[in-house]
Amino acid sequence: MSNQQSVKIAPADGKLGILIPGIGAVATTFMAGVELVKRGAAEPVGSLTQMATIRLGKRTDGRSPKIKDFAPLAKLDDLVFGGWDIFEDNAYEAAAHAKVLEPAMLEQVKGPLSAVQPMKAVFDQNYVKRITGPNVKQGGTKRDHAEMLIEDISNFKQKNGCDRLVMIWCGSTEVFHRPAAVHQTLKDFECGLMKNDPDIAPSQIYAYAAMQAGVPFANGAPNLTSDIPAMLDLARERNVPLCGKDFKTGQTFMKTLIAPGLKARMLGINGWFSTNILGNRDGEVLEDPGSFKTKEETKLSVLDTILQPDLYPQLYKDLYHSVKINYYPPRGDSKEGWDNIDIFGWLGYPMQIKIDFLCRDSILAAPLVLDLVLFMDLAQRAGMRGIQEWLSFYFKGPMTAPGLYPEHDIFIQLMKLKNRLRHLMGEDLITHLGLEYYD
Ligand SMILES: NC(=O)c1ccc[n+]([C@@H]2O[C@H](COP(=O)([O-])OP(=O)(O)OC[C@H]3O[C@@H](n4cnc5c(N)ncnc54)[C@H](O)[C@@H]3O)[C@@H](O)[C@H]2O)c1
Repeated sequence: MSNQQSVKIAPADGKLGILIPGIGAVATTFMAGVELVKRGAAEPVGSLTQMATIRLGKRTDGRSPKIKDFAPLAKLDDLVFGGWDIFEDNAYEAAAHAKVLEPAMLEQVKGPLSAVQPMKAVFDQNYVKRITGPNVKQGGTKRDHAEMLIEDISNFKQKNGCDRLVMIWCGSTEVFHRPAAVHQTLKDFECGLMKNDPDIAPSQIYAYAAMQAGVPFANGAPNLTSDIPAMLDLARERNVPLCGKDFKTGQTFMKTLIAPGLKARMLGINGWFSTNILGNRDGEVLEDPGSFKTKEETKLSVLDTILQPDLYPQLYKDLYHSVKINYYPPRGDSKEGWDNIDIFGWLGYPMQIKIDFLCRDSILAAPLVLDLVLFMDLAQRAGMRGIQEWLSFYFKGPMTAPGLYPEHDIFIQLMKLKNRLRHLMGEDLITHLGLEYYD
């Protein structure tokens, strides 16, 4: 047993509202999955909060409860869904359009999904070029749009009798966008909202509205969104947790499994060529070079941070890394990602690794949405504000304190996440030193 003090955590009483900008493939696969799991019709495969255990104490203690029995997380029965989209389809229609789930499975949850009717979106065609839709807030400044979202949030909370809320961006990837003057301080940002500054993206208006309303915000896409000083100020001021960006699924997930292994054995890499085909709406949006550039940035940064070429120039200095995504409608959400990895070993002898991952994007992303909303709610109840680096496990481009490089190695990320839970609950951290077994 531990002698650490546990952190004071408010109980998970009452309903937890999950507000999602972007009721597309990922969001609807998440909602349908939760409803199916609640009915006992499927297992929550891929979700740490629902399936994983956490070891407590020594290896010989035999204490490995499930995370959901260890940490006071909200129950699936207490989740209520809502959100915004530029299309008027309810979540059932959007799920049917996304074609991720078999119709027979989707039919079982038609009732609860049909009840999720998207609120009018804050949208700007300059940020997502390939799609347009009718369900959009009209007129007014960006400031007015933020106010309208705050009102939507408050109405949703009241109407659904929610005790607490979490917002998670599952909207389309916006065009590449660097931090500008308007993103530097909260005051600059608020002035920019009033002046309709073109450097304020719709996703930033949602993030602003969420945090102003005291709602934790997570970003599942690679957009800049909340990764700017103004939002960090806001999170601190409003005492809300914040995390992002870009769900770690598919090819990048594979990269963060394989690259740390090669590096652990001090094997060199000359080249890593990655290409994908996918045919869902996300793939269509990513056909636009601006949106692809945003995605490419998070995908490319992963290898550099894992491999640390400045520490290991003989092994990784000359690595050529290329990532491509091609929109190919026949595949729908069932993506195929190929990797060719040119590696070298003892005395520089070359070898190759080929990976062909036939994955399903939204099936991989949905459990991450579930874990993130439950952990963000826990963080809020534990009084944790600002960037939640312990949730890096879920992201391709984890947010970190300014000046700190992100941790991309999935095994370090998992250790960080579990140690954070142990710390919250007053258990000893696990260092894997293991001397106690040999005394
Ligand atoms: N599926 C994955 O494995 C995965 C992994 C990492 C990141 N992502 C990101 O998650 C996001 C969602 O992916 P998806 O496959 O569900 O895409 P999708 O195209 O099916 O859904 C996105 C939805 O967002 C809506 N939208 C766009 N702009 C909006 C706005 N301003 N306000 C409200 N709604 C808006 C679109 O109309 C669409 O319905 C994308 O940005 C994607 O890049 C997905």
